[in-house]
Order: sequence, then C-alpha cells, then structure tokens
Amino acid sequence: MEKERIEKMIELATDQLQFSYTPYSGFKVGAALLTKSGKMYTGCNIENAAYTPTNCAERTAFFKAVSEGEREFEAICVVGGKDGILTEYAAPCGVCRQVMMEFCDPQQFLIILATGTDHYDVYTLKELLPLGFGPANLN
Ligand code: THU
Repeated sequence: MEKERIEKMIELATDQLQFSYTPYSGFKVGAALLTKSGKMYTGCNIENAAYTPTNCAERTAFFKAVSEGEREFEAICVVGGKDGILTEYAAPCGVCRQVMMEFCDPQQFLIILATGTDHYDVYTLKELLPLGFGPANLN
C-alpha cells in the first residue's frame, strides 16, 4: 500500500482518540478501516460499566461499515495507548482478529499498527491470526 494512504489512515485513526469512551481503563484506541472501493470508516473503543459490553475500536469500525452494506475490506489502521498517548503498538485483541477473519482474506487484509505517521508496521491478518477459523471452514 502507498505511504500516503497509510499516513492518511494513521491520521484518521488518531483523530478518533478524542471520541474514545474509556472511563474505566483510560486506554484509548482509534481505528480507520479502508474498503476495497476506497472508502474509509472510523471507530473508537466504547466502554461500559458492566465491562463485557465494551466494544473495541476495530469492531466499532467494522460494524459501522458492515451495517452500511460494506463487505469487502483492504486494510485497518489501529492506534492506542493509556490516556491516548501513543508509545507502543495497540495490537487487535483476539475477538477483533476473529471479526476481521469473518470478512477478510487473511492473506490479503492488512493491519497497520502505528504510534505516529513516522512509525508504523504493516502485517497481514494471517500473520496476526495464523490458522484462523473463518467462513470457508464451514463449506
Ligand atoms: N481495546 C481496543 O479498542 N482495541 C484493541 O485492540 C485492544 C483493546 C480497548 C478495549 C478497552 O476499552 C481498552 O482498550 C482496554 O482493554
């Protein structure tokens, strides 16, 4: 993927940190999801007093996109950190990787982890979820 596109995704994901609702952990996460048609959907994490209903930034972005008819995705960018300070990569949790597995080709779908536009790495879903179980396993 082109550097300019990656940097744009990092900027959009970082911009989401202001909306992150985290009264319990203070750990703010932002995501920017790119569809194959070039459209971008953003997301933040949304916590809950009952804890388990908490939704990660990645799933917020996916569910926004899928609920608007999107089914084909190219890449997601994720940034996060305590109090919104980006010092290390915020890698997607197992549940979010599984949601990606539902809609994305693990060999093609890219996961961009960043601490800023000047520091990022790009992984495939297959790298982060080896031997993943997905829709094809039910055929
Ligand atoms: N979180 C995300 O939004 N994405 C991740 O990939 C990891 C964890 C959120 C959930 C919770 O609000 C906070 O980070 C601490 O776990």
